[in-house]
Amino acid sequence: MELINCLKATSLASIQAKNLDNYMKKILFLCLGNICRSPLAEGVFSTMAAEQGLDLFVDSAGTGAYHIGELPYHATRKVAKKYGIELTHKARQLKVADFEVFDYILAMDNNNFRHADQLSQKASSMRASLHLFREFDSDKSSMEVDDPYYGTEKDFEKCYQTVKRCSEGLLMFLTNR
Ligand code: 4NP
Repeated sequence: MELINCLKATSLASIQAKNLDNYMKKILFLCLGNICRSPLAEGVFSTMAAEQGLDLFVDSAGTGAYHIGELPYHATRKVAKKYGIELTHKARQLKVADFEVFDYILAMDNNNFRHADQLSQKASSMRASLHLFREFDSDKSSMEVDDPYYGTEKDFEKCYQTVKRCSEGLLMFLTNR
């Protein structure tokens, strides 16, 4: 049952065209390549938000330009599919305008965070609040979502579980629970 309108964007033009001020909050997940961690976070989080009937706008991006236009990595799509989530996002690079449009930007690791923080200095107006995604994790053993790109199926499973826990924490934060 589709209770909400949980949209994603591929460009700033499409973001603006959808009049996003009607959405409760706009959330951007950020990693390096935008083919493993952040599109998985986008898919998991938007699915959970939809199940709770929340009207959110969810997207993802990478700090790097290596994979622009590509679907998520095959192992990322495989673990998402295992949990009933189809990933259709096309990789894109973080841009200055993202800081003026999104309410929250959630970085997967410290490098992504630093890169975003530097880029944000160029924004003419700052809307976004930048966080490490694992600030919302109930497991405090690390503050980073490990990059599974060169890893095994087990690493992608671990990435899914981490992203799921962080998504639960972020949803509790956004709904003040
Ligand atoms: P992601 O993983 O940042 O979680 O999408 C990576 C994917 C590709 C590369 C690095 C990280 N790469 O160097 O191509």
